[in-house]
Amino acid sequence: MVLYSLLAAAKVNLYLEIVGDRGDGFHELIMVMQSISLADRVTVRSIGVDTIRLICHHPLVPADETNLAYRAAALLVRRFPEVMTHRGGVEITLEKHIPVGAGLAGGSSNAAAVLVGLDLLWNLGLTQGELQELGAELGSDVPFAITGGTMFATGRGEQLDPLPGLHPLWMVLAKYGTEMVSTPWAYRTYRAEFGHLYQTEFATRRSQVKAGPMLAAISHHQGSAIGHHLYNDLEKVVLPAHGKTAELKATMASLGGRGTLMSGSGPTVFTLVSTQTEAESLIQRIRAALPDPDLGLWMAQCVPSGVQLVDD
Ligand code: C5P
Repeated sequence: MVLYSLLAAAKVNLYLEIVGDRGDGFHELIMVMQSISLADRVTVRSIGVDTIRLICHHPLVPADETNLAYRAAALLVRRFPEVMTHRGGVEITLEKHIPVGAGLAGGSSNAAAVLVGLDLLWNLGLTQGELQELGAELGSDVPFAITGGTMFATGRGEQLDPLPGLHPLWMVLAKYGTEMVSTPWAYRTYRAEFGHLYQTEFATRRSQVKAGPMLAAISHHQGSAIGHHLYNDLEKVVLPAHGKTAELKATMASLGGRGTLMSGSGPTVFTLVSTQTEAESLIQRIRAALPDPDLGLWMAQCVPSGVQLVDD
């Protein structure tokens, strides 16, 4: 039996600016994306029958062909039509630790791990670039989720430029279990409210951000300056519509750390801290300030990779 086990890292956006409309249904973005140690475990295993089987016991994750992990496998089968005849089918198991519908790219990371795992299991010999191109067909965050680390991401989010790594910066993440945000809703609402401000000179804005204070802070690994320049345009539509998350962000920001931001389309909020000890003590203070059993809290470290093969 051949089996590969992979860790699929979640991400946070340290910076997310919506620049304009691309005219292809997507927005032109400027982002800094960061992989974190909060990760799902994805296993791909050869099976005799010529089929894709998906196992996931999380109540909010569909274990069927609508799941992005299943669609990643189906995409490879379409691209290599003979592969299951020669190499057998696959059983994919998702062990979820990344909160769902959270703005942490959990679904994208699972799809990324399936692409990397099946490339090995089916001996496809795909390059990192080819894997990223396939990933872009599945979702804007999938190319990043494959490579991970610290990236300046532009275009739809699939144009990636590596930045100096930020490990071992720590963070505390928080999300109410019952709060969920639909990414298409967040972008649609943003377009309705702020579309009149959209820019068309994408390259000019990209150069400005590249030469700006956030990237300088990252280059010099200055944690407090990074915290000071955290930015996310989607907060402007998500926080007003999600009062509990807005209150969570305000509480976390008041309790210390180097800066607090909502990740992606939310509703996860994170605070950067310097050490694991600081993360542990911040979690205790958040729990004391907001003693709600619906509030999930995690600590994580910045990590240098997206999908990582692990020994079982
Ligand atoms: O690419 P992905 O499937 O993750 O995108 C989900 C939705 O988020 C898209 O359908 C689109 O509405 C919005 N989006 C966008 N611009 C991007 C990325 C996502 O408008 N660059």
